[in-house]
Formats: sequence, structure tokens, C-alpha cells
Amino acid sequence: MSRLEKELRKVQSSIQKNIRTPKGKLGEAIRYTFSKPGKQLRPSFVLLFGNMGDEPKKERLINIAGSVEILHNATLIHDDIIDNSSVRRGRESVQAKYGKTIALYAGDYLFALSLQLLSENTSKITNLRVNGSTMQKILAGETTQFGNEYNTSITEKEYLEQIRGKTASLFGYSCYIGALEGGLNKRLARSAQQVGVLFGQAFQLRDDILDYTASTAELKKPVLSDVVNGVYTGPLIFALKKDNTGKLNKLVEKGKDISSSELAQIEYLVNELGGIRHAQKLANDFTSSALALLKDKFSNYSGYDEVVEIVQKMLTRNY
Ligand code: IPE
Ligand code: IPE
Ligand code: MG
Ligand code: MG
Repeated sequence: MSRLEKELRKVQSSIQKNIRTPKGKLGEAIRYTFSKPGKQLRPSFVLLFGNMGDEPKKERLINIAGSVEILHNATLIHDDIIDNSSVRRGRESVQAKYGKTIALYAGDYLFALSLQLLSENTSKITNLRVNGSTMQKILAGETTQFGNEYNTSITEKEYLEQIRGKTASLFGYSCYIGALEGGLNKRLARSAQQVGVLFGQAFQLRDDILDYTASTAELKKPVLSDVVNGVYTGPLIFALKKDNTGKLNKLVEKGKDISSSELAQIEYLVNELGGIRHAQKLANDFTSSALALLKDKFSNYSGYDEVVEIVQKMLTRNY
């Protein structure tokens, strides 16, 4: 078992220790959430950048990595309410299993818990400010997306802004807080943050590609669900722009009334019109920039190779 794997186990124990208290359905929903870990990418970044410095306060770093994973899970629980999604990590989502009200409170509880854990473990209380502003960015990203529901004229620029907010900001924060708590100086921590933001954009682009190309079994969450809900992501947005015949626009405009055979046509056209290709190109570009910055600033630090490996692996993931 690698050092990272060992530390991630400790992160899981730290999380478990902190979710024992809530009672009733709320407690059940929260413990259900953490009974099946995801890919744990954000805590991995906290730990890897955290171990680059010369003063990693191990226990504190583990708890901070836990607080970031808790924050991430809070956003997923709320996201599944907004997206009306019934599957998460290959099983029922919290909102499907416990209802939207419990899910709302479970997410809120976890936001609060993550802040509490950060405040107990951070070396500087001012770091809470960065956490607060990250949460605001995630919320702004999610609500802008919500505001663009069924908007077929959303631009590439608007879409990229959305994903920077809803996804990339948390990856940026994970790298930043890890680097800072591990003892790297603020300038390097800002570079780590930039790496995270670049990676996060590539990650969300890939996620949005998979919505059109993967199967539910591979992805462990529903596929082709966004378009019916009026959430138009990269591949579709790019394809709509190339839709000279208007065929794709016409299908998409049916919104909630899109039939399953029309959905299959949309899937076909998104690929045919180059939407997938362009999204993957952008993801490749963000990844290249992340790797270049990593090489420039962090190639002399231990753990560099592992960060590179994660960044590369996620660009071509099918899960
Ligand atoms: C899902 O994130 C939400 C997105 C930003 C696409 P992850 O794919 O990291 O979720 P888990 O934690 O591994 O389930
Ligand atoms: C992920 O949004 C971003 C947040 C959870 C804030 P998505 O809606 O794209 O993620 P999935 O596909 O449900 O995991
Ligand atoms: Mg979703
Ligand atoms: Mg969403």
C-alpha cells in the first residue's frame, strides 16, 4: 500500500469519527453517504501537496483532507437534489433514499461540519476565508448553471465560467490548503491552486463528455440525464454551435418531452457535430497547462510524480 493510500485510510477514519453524533434520519443519511467512498481526489491533492513542505503536521493535515472531502460530499448531496438524480456512486442518492428535505439538511450539516473541522485544524484562522470564498464560488457556479436551464444559446465562455466555479474552485482550494498547511510559501501555494483549477476544468469537461459517451454501469451515475433536465454542458453546447441544419436545436428544444429515441439521436448528433471532440480538446489543453505548471514549480518536490499520474489518468477516465 502506498503512502497516499495509507493516509487516505486515516482520512476515512477521521471522517467516520466526526459523523457519529447526528441522530435519527439525518444521522443515517450522513453515515450512508460516507459508507461508500468515491475517488477521493480532493483529499489526495490536500495530502500530496501537503507532504511537499517540510513541516507537515500529519494529524492536522489528515483532518483538513477530511474536511475537504466532507465539503465535496455536501455539494454532491445538494447537486443530486437540484439535478433530480437518483443514483450516486452506483447506488441510491441521498435524496432518492431519504427524500429531498433530509438531503437538504444533510448537505447543510456537512457544510457546517467541514468548516468546524477546518477551524479546529488549520494553522491560521485566516484560511477559513479561503474556504468561505470557495464555497461561494461553488454555489455561484451551480446557481448560474441553474439560471441557464433550457438556454440553448449559452456560450462556451459562460459554460467554462460555470465549471470553474462549481468544480475547479474546490480542486484549487484542495491544492492550496494542502500546500499551505504543509509549509510551502504562499506563492507556491497559489501555484498549487492554479494547478488545481486547471485540473478541475479538465476533470469537469471529461465528466460532461462521459455523460454522452459512457454507460450508467461504467459511470455509476445516470447518463444522458442533463439534457432532459435542461442542463446543457460542453459537448452539447459546442455541437449546438455547429448545428447548421438546426436538427439538434429542434430536438433539444423539446426539453422534458424528449423521448428515448430522440435522446439517442441527440447523443449521435453531439458526437457527429464534433461536440465531444472539441470538449476533449479543451480538456487536453487544460491538462497540458496543469502539467506544465506542475513541472515548472513542483518537479523537485517529493510526490510530484503522483500528482502528475492522477492528472494524466483523469483526462482519459471512463468512470
Ligand atoms: C463528482 O465528483 C462531481 C464532479 C465534479 C463531476 P467526483 O467524480 O470526484 O465524485 P466522487 O467523490 O468520486 O464520487
Ligand atoms: C458537479 O456537478 C459539481 C458539483 C457537485 C458542485 P455535476 O452535476 O456535473 O456532477 P454529477 O455528474 O452529478 O456528479
Ligand atoms: Mg449532478
Ligand atoms: Mg449538477
